[in-house]
Amino acid sequence: MARLTRALLMALATAGSATAAPAESTTTTTTQNATADGLHSLMVKAGKMYFGTAIDVNNFADAKYMAIADNKNEFGMMTAENSMKWSSSEPNQGKFAFASADKVVERAKKNGQGMRCHNLIWYNQLPSYVTSGSWTNETLTAAMQTHITNVVEHFKGACYAWDVVNEAFGDGDGSYRQSVFLKNIGEAFIPLAFQAAAAADPDTKLYFNDFNLEISPDKAAATLALVKDLQARKIRIDGVGFQGHLVVGGTPTRDALATSLRQFTALGVEVAYTEVDIRFESLPASSSGLEQQAQDYAALVGSCLDVKECVGVTVWQFSDKYNWVSSVFKGKGDACLWSADYAKKPAYDAVIKVLQDAISSSGTSKIPGFMMDEGVFFW
Ligand code: XIL
Repeated sequence: MARLTRALLMALATAGSATAAPAESTTTTTTQNATADGLHSLMVKAGKMYFGTAIDVNNFADAKYMAIADNKNEFGMMTAENSMKWSSSEPNQGKFAFASADKVVERAKKNGQGMRCHNLIWYNQLPSYVTSGSWTNETLTAAMQTHITNVVEHFKGACYAWDVVNEAFGDGDGSYRQSVFLKNIGEAFIPLAFQAAAAADPDTKLYFNDFNLEISPDKAAATLALVKDLQARKIRIDGVGFQGHLVVGGTPTRDALATSLRQFTALGVEVAYTEVDIRFESLPASSSGLEQQAQDYAALVGSCLDVKECVGVTVWQFSDKYNWVSSVFKGKGDACLWSADYAKKPAYDAVIKVLQDAISSSGTSKIPGFMMDEGVFFW
């Protein structure tokens, strides 16, 4: 294991001793006191690597938000919500722009938090020179390889993992999603992307990341076939990210979710929940709705605890104030653990409880997950 990766893992492992008092504790709806263990601290005590969140530079000016985001007791792994995507990182061909993403990385580093890096190849948030360019298989392959090489090399040492290919399959039927990459390169764009990422950084974990893997058997089957295909060709893939964009009352049970995760870990890859939010289909939420949301979050986090090779859970923003759902799905939302005014919701309490229950019923040593030997994690 590379030195930087080991250093990051060791730093994450010490997170349980973090005692920073969350500045929002006066508005909390819970009985937690200010120094109680938060999400990340408990996740580590429960044998996992991290609890994380998406964040971006546009959030930095919000002091109340940042008091929570900077607190490693709550979050030990950060993902830049938008600023590493192709439209941000290479807005003009060959001209790379890393200033925003660098600020996210620097802030995480200062806080002792790790980074999950997102993403390299996706059909969305592409600059128009990519979507409207007149490409051939050869020229787009070269542009894709140049993009991946430059971005991965720039962030080398900072990223625990990279989402190399994001959302390659359609909404639920397991067919390949139409994209400029599929159109010009064919399905080979995926192995080519993984090969380029592996060559650029041998130490970061390489993930395929997608949504609805939790609820669509066809999409899960297509993704399993992809993992097997890459492995058969000896192309490195280390993990599969379950995005976890789910619906209140439509989230599978803890056991069903764990079964879905295990389909992948049986192939020898790790898994993680990478973009969790559990939205209401209509608002305002009722108090029974908030309880259902709490159960759904607990089921999801519980399923990660139940699967040894599930490394952690990342939420896609932690406050309803900034979650993307309400801007994309009109009239829907309130999908996060904290309300828009930073009160902890029942879902927050439920996640804390599922973690505390796992720790007290099993003891860390008996929970499937990471083991530590002389400061080095291994499965
Ligand atoms: C979303 C961001 O949250 C929004 O701010 C942006 O406008 C669109 O993208 N799947 C992904 C994420 O992999 O990158 C998406 O993020 C949400 C869906």
